Amino acid sequence: MAESCELHAFMGHQNPTLCDVTRGSGGSAYVGNVCDGKAIAGYAVDHSIALAVVSSDDPLAAGVVDHLLGAGVPTVGPTRSGAEIEWNKAFCRQVVDQIAPGSNPAYAVARTPAEVERAVAKVAEHGPVVVKPVGLAGGKGVRVVGPHLADNDAAVEYALEIVESGRHGGAVSIEERISAPEFTIQAMTDGQIVVLPPATYDYPYRFEGDTGPGTGGMGSCALPGGLLPFLSRESYDAACGIVRDVIAYLAETRRHFSGCLNAGFFADARGLRVIEFNARFGDPEGINIMSLVERGWTDALVAMADGSLSDDMIPMANRASVVTYLVAPEYALGISAGHRFSIDVDQVRAHGADVLFSAAVEREPGSYQTVGTSRAVAIVATEDTVESARSSVAGAIINCVSGDLEWRSDIGIFPGESP
Ligand code: GLY
Repeated sequence: MAESCELHAFMGHQNPTLCDVTRGSGGSAYVGNVCDGKAIAGYAVDHSIALAVVSSDDPLAAGVVDHLLGAGVPTVGPTRSGAEIEWNKAFCRQVVDQIAPGSNPAYAVARTPAEVERAVAKVAEHGPVVVKPVGLAGGKGVRVVGPHLADNDAAVEYALEIVESGRHGGAVSIEERISAPEFTIQAMTDGQIVVLPPATYDYPYRFEGDTGPGTGGMGSCALPGGLLPFLSRESYDAACGIVRDVIAYLAETRRHFSGCLNAGFFADARGLRVIEFNARFGDPEGINIMSLVERGWTDALVAMADGSLSDDMIPMANRASVVTYLVAPEYALGISAGHRFSIDVDQVRAHGADVLFSAAVEREPGSYQTVGTSRAVAIVATEDTVESARSSVAGAIINCVSGDLEWRSDIGIFPGESP
């Protein structure tokens, strides 16, 4: 957006990328509570904002879009009721049962300790289970029997912890564990017209080889042609059909939705099953899509806000895109004290990659510190092949980043492939 208009950012911390691009565009950057819809709407009105974009889970669940629309600010993003498809996993499952019967894994929602026992017993008939908090948990709430929980008894224990503490919505969806490759479709919409980009592949686990705890995503990729090694055209089209139907359902039920619906699926011989929906771009998968958009992004956003989106408004390069996150060593494992690191941004660009800061602040020129509990900085490369995009990302990290951040070197390698 900063390439084509004056950009202003209301942000949770001094994000170096946002500070840089807003300054370069002649705009401004303000640090505040990103879930305070009243303050954000006031900021938008004070700065005569012509178009607001909200694409982050907690602000969407807090109704920031409702406040902006209420103040008369044209806005891209769903209202709190549109975003319920993300912040209430029980609602998500109901919608899928209604519009795409058979596309949910076996599941049961539990809101009380007694329901937890019953839900696990019911879903365990299908095998090992997965425990998902129904509310938002920053990607770190899902635990799977096998990699994270010893057995279904441990699943009961973890589910009780959530229900009894009231955290993450105070309820859980107990789901059948499905061992199949996962992919996401990040549909862009004005609420009616749906533009469908290449499928993306996310690496949610903390360590190489998909081991360790779940995270918000350690990296992601997209391939030329829009498919993935395990994903047929037929499955891609079927997934896009479900995405279109969800967007139509939200419109019919008067749940305002514009922006991105990020839909996650399992694909195996049994067909497609829905993992979940995000009412926003995936992080980092959204960076893959942004890196492939060729032109006209701000115009497309304006059209998403005013209901005039058309199929040809978001031309995308037919290339590979790889994003790798650098994270603090404690990320998804424990509390981080804040780590100093350096990046030579110009050198990263010389390696054919780019830098997008996330949970980090600049301490002095070229020197940064991790903040909060999320991922610190993304390195992205777009090339003709996934191998060359991986190599540009790795070259940039090895040669241009110093400090004790960690990253997965297998982003861009698919299950069953060797490095
Ligand atoms: N990468 C998963 C998410 O954005 O929640």
